Amino acid sequence: MKILKAAVIGVGGISHEHITAYQKNPNVELYAFCDINEERLYQKAEKYGVAKERCFTDKDEMLAALPEIDIVSVTTWNSAHAECTIAALNAGKDVICEKPMAMNAEEARRMKEAADKNGRLLQIGFVRRYGNDCKVVKDFIDAGSFGDIYYAKATYLRRNGNPGGWFGDKSRSGGGPLIDLGVHVIDLVRYLLGKPQPVSVYGATFQKLYNRPTVKSQKGYTAADAKQNDICDVEDLASAMIRFNNGAVLSIEASFSLNIKKPEGDIQLFGTKAGCKLDPQVEIYTEMNDYMVNVAFDDDTALSFDGLFSNEINHFVDCVLNGTECIAPAQDGIDMMRILDAVYESARTGHEVIL
Ligand SMILES: NC(=O)c1ccc[n+]([C@@H]2O[C@H](COP(=O)([O-])OP(=O)(O)OC[C@H]3O[C@@H](n4cnc5c(N)ncnc54)[C@H](O)[C@@H]3O)[C@@H](O)[C@H]2O)c1
Repeated sequence: MKILKAAVIGVGGISHEHITAYQKNPNVELYAFCDINEERLYQKAEKYGVAKERCFTDKDEMLAALPEIDIVSVTTWNSAHAECTIAALNAGKDVICEKPMAMNAEEARRMKEAADKNGRLLQIGFVRRYGNDCKVVKDFIDAGSFGDIYYAKATYLRRNGNPGGWFGDKSRSGGGPLIDLGVHVIDLVRYLLGKPQPVSVYGATFQKLYNRPTVKSQKGYTAADAKQNDICDVEDLASAMIRFNNGAVLSIEASFSLNIKKPEGDIQLFGTKAGCKLDPQVEIYTEMNDYMVNVAFDDDTALSFDGLFSNEINHFVDCVLNGTECIAPAQDGIDMMRILDAVYESARTGHEVIL
């Protein structure tokens, strides 16, 4: 079988997951790196054993110099996703681009157009679709155990968790916790619900606590380039109600900074036959013989990060090599960006946005 040559554009924090997943895949050769930060570029090249002559600070130079590259991971900050992805697609590569797909739906549409025009795959990094918890819940949904799922709640709340660096800089991130964290849980719910289309959105965002620069407690996650006086012009809390074309409604909350006791991440689905909660373990709530019963699993169903990104990258490689249907295609990224755009628009105007 052909061995795919993989390039990674943007070798910061999350690229580690793509890189090590490529290294573990027998059908892939980790081949080239690109990053505008030269120091980081060569440090990562040494760490992961990529030859110096296959390291570039400019994506276009890399794509021109190494036409043998087959696949590309785009793991830059959000504002560079569109330009890097489109350049790689136009150079004839298949691409996996990290979430969020882009800064907005308009950019996302242009990325898909480039994929279609060049007949290449564009997969979006909706990594939670590959989680063990997702699989368990999806098995029950597919078997009809939940009946009609008509309401869902998803939260991804940090107390002191603005990572700084580009995450707080709207010109590079496109927004705060909604586009960074909310995207994961909105996508997971939408995927579990069978990818219904959004029809209306009501959203609110708040910028009250900023990035808590004077708070002494450790942040959970700090950007590689974070500094004390980083710009912070993104929301610190977002909340939204999203209505889908199958009648289901999702309520979502995401924060970087919030006066909450401890960070919270949770997804709950409510159906006519049963409901469930995904965190910390999957539990199902239903009726049996006219009693309310709670179903727990014998197996550990907590989301495991062990192998999560490998599952995603292996799927990407399988799609490219074998033509397997992609479970996270570009259209899903566009649909997500339409939702996120609508939340920000609704928050700006104070009114519901009809999609
Ligand atoms: N799937 C997940 O769970 C997950 C987790 C973290 C981050 N992410 C996503 O991954 C992306 C990167 O996040 P990160 O935490 O690794 O950030 P990071 O700052 O650690 O890394 C980003 C890198 O991209 C480089 N870069 C920026 N513009 C570039 C360009 N035009 N060409 C080449 N390199 C460029 C930067 O120099 C930096 O090294 C973001 O889109 C983020 O939302 C996803």
